[in-house]
Amino acid sequence: MRKPIIAGNWKMHKTIAEGVALASDLMAAATGELADFNGCEVVLCPPFTAIRAVADAVKGSAIQVGAQDVHWESHGAFTGEVSCAMLIDAGCSWVIVGHSERRAMFGDTDESVNRKVKAALAAGLKPIVCVGESLDQRESGLTHDIVTAQVLAAFNGVPAQQGAKVVVAYEPIWAIGTGRASSAADAQEVCAGIRTTLSGIYGSEIASEIRIQYGGSVKPGNMQEFAGEADIDGALVGGASLNAADFSGIIRATGVAKNRR
Ligand code: PGA
Repeated sequence: MRKPIIAGNWKMHKTIAEGVALASDLMAAATGELADFNGCEVVLCPPFTAIRAVADAVKGSAIQVGAQDVHWESHGAFTGEVSCAMLIDAGCSWVIVGHSERRAMFGDTDESVNRKVKAALAAGLKPIVCVGESLDQRESGLTHDIVTAQVLAAFNGVPAQQGAKVVVAYEPIWAIGTGRASSAADAQEVCAGIRTTLSGIYGSEIASEIRIQYGGSVKPGNMQEFAGEADIDGALVGGASLNAADFSGIIRATGVAKNRR
């Protein structure tokens, strides 16, 4: 049984003080009504500047911390970049790789995503690899081909025992930040396709261990439907991860769906 994983991608939001306040509100929820987060893994991904403070704030709790990007080199003359070792040093155990905003605006390619995945795994960071099609691609019937190519590229050369640690986030680009989430059935279809692709790489046993999140306008009100699908193992959440009530609502809904599955 795969343990659902809910990750909050704060993007370019939250100062240190704001991030610590949000983390503290979530911890309060975790020790109360949401004890043990209903069997979900919970990861917060603040901007780089707030990682250390948020990691300190959640120390000793079930909340884990991740970054939103990383560079594949271990050190050197790469102005503006941050290495895996630096992220671990700051308190991260996870890192988001290949988010569509980074692919669209900051030059991430299938090749650089693969380098980042390998560097993260080699350093002991667990990657959340984002894949997903644009609206044009969906309307042209290319969703399956695009997502399959992204998954194959991201896992290229990653050995099975490391591949099993990766989380894939299926995020249709047209659903991100638009309030227009995918239907749960459509998301399930793509996620099942991703699992078939993973099965082709690693065999069905490893593929059945790899967790696949849905992302794109996830809210407390639609999470139960997504989490009820056979191949959806949690969510990567943007906007709704920025306040404790919505984010805990998403965790709660995931726990409810999981217990029914
Ligand atoms: P959203 O973003 O939840 O605001 O749609 C999701 C994401 O970009 O990971």
